[in-house]
Amino acid sequence: MNIYEVIRNRRSVRAYLEKPVSEEALERILEAARLAPSGSNRQARKFVVVTSGETREKIARAAKQDFLAGAPVIIAGVGTTPDRTMSCGIQGDPVDVAIAMDHISLAAVEEGLGTCWIGAFPQEAIREILHIPGTSRIIELMALGYPADTPRQKVRKSREEIVCRERFS
Ligand SMILES: Cc1cc2nc3c(=O)[nH]c(=O)nc-3n(C[C@H](O)[C@H](O)[C@H](O)COP(=O)(O)O)c2cc1C
Repeated sequence: MNIYEVIRNRRSVRAYLEKPVSEEALERILEAARLAPSGSNRQARKFVVVTSGETREKIARAAKQDFLAGAPVIIAGVGTTPDRTMSCGIQGDPVDVAIAMDHISLAAVEEGLGTCWIGAFPQEAIREILHIPGTSRIIELMALGYPADTPRQKVRKSREEIVCRERFS
């Protein structure tokens, strides 16, 4: 698959086979996250990889998203410098963590795996479950596993609606 095929094939998967993800595939995917760029190469991010069924169930319950319990892996993307703001006035951690999480979602496609970004979760409850210190912030969770559903048509705005040239319009 070339990169454009990977991008076209990535989609949110909310039903997973019980089949576990091999340690080799997981390592390749996490290496894709490690290689992601970050502002000033700070790499102020950590990835908590959860495979324990008990912990996945706790996360699913806390996030009120039942399908998470059935994902063989959940990865929490954590920013370790939550107060850092870039000179453009935008927080750095969410950008740096999201880029790495996107690498994960694309590498997963190459491995025949599916993912789902999870932004709807209670910060404090998940922090407690995963023992994440108060000095860090969970930016996103991501479910990972072999898809057990059928792809649907992608719904996207047209390019004309989102791209303008030379000035905002
Ligand atoms: C930042 C972010 C947060 C998201 N949070 C959730 C979520 O909490 N639960 C969920 O089921 N899907 C979540 N999604 C998935 C989106 O609904 C999905 O990406 C979007 O509908 C486009 O569909 P596609 O991923 O299949 O292309 C999230 C996606 C992003 C990028």
